[in-house]
Amino acid sequence: MSHKKFDPSRAERLIAAERYQELKPDIILQKLGIRSGNTILDLGCGNGFFTFPAAVAMGEGMVIAADISDEMLSLLKQRNTPENIQILKVDEVKMDIEDDSVDAAVLIALYHEFKSPLDNLAEIHRTLKPGGKILILDWDPQSEKERGPAKVHRVTKAQAMKDLKAAGFTVENHESYTLDMWMIVGHSNA
Ligand SMILES: C[S@@+](CC[C@H](N)C(=O)[O-])C[C@H]1O[C@@H](n2cnc3c(N)ncnc32)[C@H](O)[C@@H]1O
Repeated sequence: MSHKKFDPSRAERLIAAERYQELKPDIILQKLGIRSGNTILDLGCGNGFFTFPAAVAMGEGMVIAADISDEMLSLLKQRNTPENIQILKVDEVKMDIEDDSVDAAVLIALYHEFKSPLDNLAEIHRTLKPGGKILILDWDPQSEKERGPAKVHRVTKAQAMKDLKAAGFTVENHESYTLDMWMIVGHSNA
């Protein structure tokens, strides 16, 4: 396991009430601007912080809850996932998902853990429908707050936007979402 991958023994804090209050999955869904009935890929879903609210919002649609860690996926399964959550174990880059099949991909607190972000973005692009959405929420290396992953492992918003453009995405919006996390919303170029 790489030194910057999330330690599953700390999973409980990902689904703490304070984190829901701070990161507000409903606002994340609004910013994504997708509709009930769509298919969302929650990549690096962990134990399901965003997966469950997304499944409620998708209604007849579905959420692909994908993670590289068996331990995190097993914690997710223990939470009794509804039928519209499909749990998927993925490799560091490769995902067993059809081309052009996903309406939106969401990456929360994941980007800084990628070993080769451009390869991950290319793989996400392959699975997205033309014009499909991407939302990345991740840690700001320039923040003065002392929490989260080591600053040396974090990626700047500017670098992530550069990566997105290089991988065939258009950035629609970018912001400082909390005091120490940035957000980028974009879509795949057709
Ligand atoms: C910090 S946790 C965040 C989990 C969840 N997104 C959240 O915000 O609660 C990062 C997750 O990404 C997973 N992960 C790391 N690298 C990955 C990769 N290349 N593909 C899929 N998942 C990955 C880890 O196993 C871990 O569950």
